[in-house]
Amino acid sequence: MNYKNILLEIKNHTALITINRPDKLNALNGLTIDELENAFNSIKNDDNVFVVVITGSGEKSFVAGADISELNKLDVLSAKEFSEKGTGVFRMIETLDKPVIAAVNGFALGGGCELALACHIRLAAENAKFGQPEINLGIIPGYGGTQRLARLINSSRALELILTGDMINADEAYRLGLVNKIFSQAELIQKTIELAEKISSKGQHAIRFAIKAIQAFENISLREGLAYESSLFALVCGTEDFKEGTSAFLEKRKPQFKNR
Ligand code: COA
Repeated sequence: MNYKNILLEIKNHTALITINRPDKLNALNGLTIDELENAFNSIKNDDNVFVVVITGSGEKSFVAGADISELNKLDVLSAKEFSEKGTGVFRMIETLDKPVIAAVNGFALGGGCELALACHIRLAAENAKFGQPEINLGIIPGYGGTQRLARLINSSRALELILTGDMINADEAYRLGLVNKIFSQAELIQKTIELAEKISSKGQHAIRFAIKAIQAFENISLREGLAYESSLFALVCGTEDFKEGTSAFLEKRKPQFKNR
């Protein structure tokens, strides 16, 4: 597929997706959501891609939300479809068994904050601004913001952000646990790619099982989660990479993982 609103570049096992509508601060219109869905479908089946990075084009914005010119035309039925479509695509990102890292290089508002929340790791530039300003448009978040924000930073803080529509800066987002690390704008992409390549250098079966095990905790009890972890641990011990990783340590050398 030839993309109009996103760029997809694959290098050294990292797929870099750039939302590319800088004149609209990378707002997510329907076509952009369709293109993201297509890109993630192809990445899912591409054995050459180990890690995904998502960022926004330009220096000002990651994603400034859903496209308000499209929102303005919604009625009850089309709004349900709109929300379910975006929520489905973001869920696909969240449940991908490859790590997805958001490099938040400016505004992450509304659907942009929700896109970052659907990623597994969030790194931010010093100028990043996060918020759920839907309340100022007379609506509520529709791409998972009420659910993921409440789970990540607690329901009271999520309510404060969603009820006021206020933006918070990168320091505050870090303090709340919304972002993992902050870098200067100039460093952000390089540092994100370095993190992606560090993860790519590990055994990918272990990476995938770690994601599966950690994500299970939202749906199951601790007792079930511990049993699930034991099963995945046993499975990963059947891989060649397990033998290589443990042997390399004992032989005092760097492991050469083959993802087998
Ligand atoms: N949907 C559609 N267009 C958007 C947009 C969005 N979510 N966010 C920004 N844009 C457009 C603006 O309309 C403007 O387009 P124009 O040049 O054709 O008029 C362009 O992007 C630049 O935005 P502008 O508002 O001029 O930039 P700014 O620096 O003054 O303000 C923001 C930046 C992010 C504070 C402001 O654009 C904003 O509040 N955006 C909406 C955020 C929002 O409510 N998101 C949630 C949607 S559910």
